[in-house]
Amino acid sequence: MMLGYVALLALGLLAGADETVYAPGSGALAPGWENWSWSSTIDFASTAGPGGVEAISVTAGSYAALSLFDETAFENKFAGLRFDISGAQPDLSLSFSSSTDSDSSASFPLTAMSSAVTATGWTTITVDFGNLPGNGGVLPADSWDRINFQAGGNGATFSVTNIVLLSEIIVTPKFLSAEPLAGNVIAVTHQGAVDLSQVSVKLNNATVALKQGTTYSPADTPALTITYFTLSKPIVPGSLVITTGGNATGTFSHTIPALKYGTINIANVKDISSDIYGVNFPTDADAIALLGTTVSRWGGNAVTAYNPFGQFTNAGNDWYFENRVADPPDADAWIGWVSGAQSKSLLTIPALDWVSKDATSYSYPKSVYPDQVAYDPYNADAGNGQFANGSWVAPLPQTNVYEPWNTSLAAQWLSGLTHKPDIVTVDNEIEIASNTHQDMHPDPLSFDEELQRVIDTATMAKSVLPDVQVAAPSTCAWWFYWTSEVGYADNAAHDNQDFLPWFLAQMQTASTKAGKRLLDYLDIHYYYAADTSANDAAAKALRLRMTKSLWDPDYTDESYIGTSVPAQWNEPNPNQVWLIPRMKQLIGQHYPGTKLSISEWSSTADTDITGGLVTVDQLGIYGREGVDAATYWGTVDTKGPVGLAFWLFRGNGTHFGSKSVQVNMAKRDEDVLGVYASTSDGKKPSLVIVNKDVVPVNLAISNIPAGTYFLRHFGGAAGIAKWQTTITVSANSNLVVPAYTAVFLQQQ
Ligand SMILES: *[C@@H]1O[C@H](CO)[C@@H](O)[C@H](O)[C@H]1NC(C)=O
Ligand SMILES: *[C@@H]1O[C@H](CO)[C@@H](O)[C@H](O)[C@H]1NC(C)=O
Ligand SMILES: *[C@@H]1O[C@H](CO)[C@@H](O)[C@H](O)[C@H]1NC(C)=O
Ligand SMILES: *[C@@H]1O[C@H](CO)[C@@H](O)[C@H](O)[C@H]1NC(C)=O
Ligand SMILES: *[C@@H]1O[C@H](CO)[C@@H](O)[C@H](O)[C@H]1NC(C)=O
Ligand SMILES: *[C@@H]1O[C@H](CO)[C@@H](O)[C@H](O)[C@H]1NC(C)=O
Repeated sequence: MMLGYVALLALGLLAGADETVYAPGSGALAPGWENWSWSSTIDFASTAGPGGVEAISVTAGSYAALSLFDETAFENKFAGLRFDISGAQPDLSLSFSSSTDSDSSASFPLTAMSSAVTATGWTTITVDFGNLPGNGGVLPADSWDRINFQAGGNGATFSVTNIVLLSEIIVTPKFLSAEPLAGNVIAVTHQGAVDLSQVSVKLNNATVALKQGTTYSPADTPALTITYFTLSKPIVPGSLVITTGGNATGTFSHTIPALKYGTINIANVKDISSDIYGVNFPTDADAIALLGTTVSRWGGNAVTAYNPFGQFTNAGNDWYFENRVADPPDADAWIGWVSGAQSKSLLTIPALDWVSKDATSYSYPKSVYPDQVAYDPYNADAGNGQFANGSWVAPLPQTNVYEPWNTSLAAQWLSGLTHKPDIVTVDNEIEIASNTHQDMHPDPLSFDEELQRVIDTATMAKSVLPDVQVAAPSTCAWWFYWTSEVGYADNAAHDNQDFLPWFLAQMQTASTKAGKRLLDYLDIHYYYAADTSANDAAAKALRLRMTKSLWDPDYTDESYIGTSVPAQWNEPNPNQVWLIPRMKQLIGQHYPGTKLSISEWSSTADTDITGGLVTVDQLGIYGREGVDAATYWGTVDTKGPVGLAFWLFRGNGTHFGSKSVQVNMAKRDEDVLGVYASTSDGKKPSLVIVNKDVVPVNLAISNIPAGTYFLRHFGGAAGIAKWQTTITVSANSNLVVPAYTAVFLQQQ
C-alpha cells in the first residue's frame, strides 16, 4: 500500500506531540526555552492579568520585543502556534527567526490575527504555519528557533500565556464566500473538507442547474481554495442566492443590479508603454517573473548617500541619520540580476556633495547634543537631529559621517560597472534634502542649484554611458513641482515661473548647447495628497475615487490642493491635479519629446484590499493616458493586494495587451468603476475591470468578441482570494464583477 504509506509519512510529520513554550503555574518558560528579549520589562510570573491567570507580562519600548529562544530549534516541525493574549489591542507583530543563519520570517501584525484583543480578557490566537495571518502564505523551511512578539514604534504593553507549538491544525470546513463572476460563473471560496455537491443556486427564486468546474488551491495560500461552478443560464438582474450544505451550511445572497452599458472600439488604439509595470527593489527573480515586472528601480531616500566603493549608505531622516551597510549592498550585482530576470534597471546616481564613509557613524550623537527629541531605540547615542522646539541641531562637520562625492567619482563608478543601467535618475527628491538629509545639505535647495546638479550629472552619465536614458528631477510631491524649499522668492527670482516648466525649458536649452538630449524623462513622484489613513468606509471610498486626480480635468482634489492655491503659482486650474495630461502639456510647451516617468507612487494602503484595487485602477490609467515609465514604491509583497494588482495585469507570463483600446461607458462613474481594454494583435481584446464599489456591478459591453477567455481575479468577500479559470463569453454576455474585485479577461 504505497499510497497509504506515503500518506502516513506525511501525517507523521505533524502527528508528534504539541510543545509547551509557557504554561501558567510554573512562573517560568518551559524547560529548553530561554528569554532572549530586548528593551522590555518582563515578569514571567505575573498574575495581574484577567482572572489572575499566570502569564508573561511585558512592557516593551519602541520596537522592543518579548523573544523566546528554543534550545532545540523547532524549525518546521510544527503545524502552528497558539497563545492567549491580553492587552488593549497592543501594537504588536509576531515573527519567527533563526539564531543560526539570522533569517527572519515576515512580521505578522496582531491586527491580522484579531482586532478584538482587550485588557479585560484573554483572546486565543491560533497561527497556522500553512496559512500565515494576512497573506503570509506558508512558513518557509528554516532553522527557526525564536518566537518574537515585537512592539511597534510607540511600544506595547501586553500579557501572553498558554503558548504552545501545535503538532496539528484542524481546519473547520467552511464556505467563506460564493460570488457571481462574469456571465454565468459562481466562484466559491472554502477551507477544509467541505461538500461541494451540496452547493445550489436560485436566480429570482428559480433553481438554476450548475456544473462544478475546477478547484484551485494557490500554492501560497493553500487554506483559501476556490471552486468555480458554471450556471446553465446567464446571471440576470435580481436576486441570486447561493446555498451551501453538508457540514458547512451557509447562504450567500446577492442583488444583481441593472446592466451598465458600454462599448469598446478595438480600431481606436494607442500604444501602452510596457515600462509602466515597474517596482522599486523587487525581492528576487521569481517575484519579477510572477508579477511581470518590467522596470526595477534602485531608489529612495537611502540611496542619496550610497557610496558604491564601500557599499555603505546613510538612512538620513528616515532613521536617525545613521550610516549602515547598503541593502542591497552592490548596485552592480543588483543591475546584473534584475537584468538577468528580464527587467530593465533604473539606477539612482547620488548627486549631492557627500556619501557615507562607513557602516557605523551617525550625524547627531547624544554625547555631543544631549537634548534632542528622540534617540534610536537600538542605539541610545544616535539622535534624530531635532530639538523639542522643532528646530534642527546644527550639523557637525560632514566628514564625521561622510566623504566627498562629485561627478568625477560618479563617472569612475559608472564606467567601472560590469552591468550597465538602462535608465539613471539624478539622485532622489533632492529638492527636500534640507529635511531628509539635513546633516549633509542643511540649506534649502534652490531652482538654480537643482538645475545645475541635474545638468552636471546628466552630462557625466551620457558621456560615460552613451546609451543611458536620464530621468530627473524626481520631485517628491505637488507642492515642490511648483516651488522650491527656498520659497516663493525663488519663483520670483525666475520670472515668476513654476519650477517644473522652468526646469523643462532650461533642460531644453542645456541640451541644445550640449548638442544632445540631456533629459529623456521628466520624472516625478506622485503620492495622493488626500488623507485616507482612517481607513474607514469613507476613507476607502475616497481612496478608490481619488485615482481621478491622475486624469480627470473636472476632479477637484479632496485635499489641500483642492482648496488652497498660492497666488505665486501660474498653473491653470490648480485645484485639479489632472496629473498626467498636465505633465504632458507642460512637456509639449517647454521641452517636446521628453517622456514622462513616475518613479515613486503608492496605493496608500498596501495591505488593504482597497489599496490593491487602487493599484489596478492606476495601472489601467497609466496605460490609457500614456505614461512612459513608472515604478511602484516600495518593495511589493507578491501575495498582498498590491502584488496581486501587478499579477492581474502581467502575472506569470500572461500580459495585458500592448495597445490601449478605447472604452466608452454610457454613464460615467469612475468613482466606483474602472474599465480598461487593450489588444496586442488588433483582434483579440484583453479587459481589466475594477469594481471599486461595495455592491456587484453588471456590465453589458458590446463589441467583445464571443469566444473562450482566460479569466483571473482577486478581491471579493473572502478577503483577497485570487485565481484564474477559463470561461466562455457568448455574443451578448453580460459581465458581473463582485464588490471590491478586479478581473482580467483575455480572449484565447
Ligand atoms: C529577559 O530579558 C530581558 C532582556 O535581556 C531582560 O531585561 C529581562 O530582565 C529578562 N527577564 C528575566 C525574567 O530574565
Ligand atoms: C464534512 O463533510 C465532508 C463531505 O461529506 C467530509 O469529507 C468531511 O470529512 C466532513 N468534515 C468534518 C470535519 O466533518
Ligand atoms: C421570491 O420569493 C420571495 C418570497 O417568497 C418573494 O417575496 C419575491 O417576490 C420573489 N421574487 C421574485 C423575483 O419572484
Ligand atoms: C530650540 O532649542 C534649542 C536647544 O534648546 C536652542 O538652541 C534653539 O535656539 C531653539 N530654537 C528656537 C527657534 O527657539
Ligand atoms: C572629486 O573628489 C575627489 C575625491 O575627493 C577628488 O580627488 C577630485 O579632485 C574631485 N573632482 C572634482 C572635479 O572636484
Ligand atoms: C504560474 O504558472 C504556472 C504554470 O502554468 C502554474 O503552475 C502556477 O500555479 C502559476 N502561478 C500563479 C500564481 O499564477
